Amino acid sequence: MKRLMFTFVAIILALGIAVAGDYKIPLIGSKAPKFSANTTEGKITFPNDFGNNWKILFSHPADFTPVCSSELLELAHLQSDFKKLGVQVAVISTDNVELHKMWEAHLEELDYKNRGPIAIEFPIFEDPDGKNSKLYGMLHEPTSTNRDIRGVFIIDDKNIVRSVNFYPVEVGRDMTEFVRIVEALQLSDKQHVYTPANWESGDDVIVPYFPYTQAELAANPGLKDDYYQVGDRIWFKRMEGNTVHK
Ligand code: BEZ
Repeated sequence: MKRLMFTFVAIILALGIAVAGDYKIPLIGSKAPKFSANTTEGKITFPNDFGNNWKILFSHPADFTPVCSSELLELAHLQSDFKKLGVQVAVISTDNVELHKMWEAHLEELDYKNRGPIAIEFPIFEDPDGKNSKLYGMLHEPTSTNRDIRGVFIIDDKNIVRSVNFYPVEVGRDMTEFVRIVEALQLSDKQHVYTPANWESGDDVIVPYFPYTQAELAANPGLKDDYYQVGDRIWFKRMEGNTVHK
């Protein structure tokens, strides 16, 4: 009887973990979940096949819908910016790869915002059973059980999740924001700095503490050229771009 009870509890626990695991959103700092699936460019294992590039995985609800179409066209428009930052973009939805290919061909013929036709150079994953979307917590059940939410995972060169964003179906994403986030994260990694609200590439950045004492500043006023303070809690490092004025 005891053994039976133990087996029963073990099964319930295992089921619970499996179900909870299914819907877990990978958190910032965690290893990016790995999956293999068909894409518009053949079978790809994400994120591993993209080596030590940074990666961004975008999910969208459905092919051939207006907001999703505008999003893919804006992503295609930013391809060279992502390339410069060493970012490999990938897209996923629960539609199948045949539909993805038809949609891609259709989008590539459009003249969106008078930019002329543009080739889509990133792969679109199929995910008809939603299995891989679930790995990334991109199916938000109260909204839909079989259509992705608008999800964005930024993953670094070591396959660690560095940024997680979700947007509602009704609101198309500002794709330039993901260029900005990668720029900020890469600068932070390189220079151990943080970026203030509304920061854009080239703007001054925040340092965790003011690096000079008042005595050092008094002895060498030129040090102020590199760093400055706003109030007594915010310390900036001067960059080439915009200064935050006191
Ligand atoms: C759209 O992207 O336009 C869309 C997607 C799902 C439902 C409704 C609209």
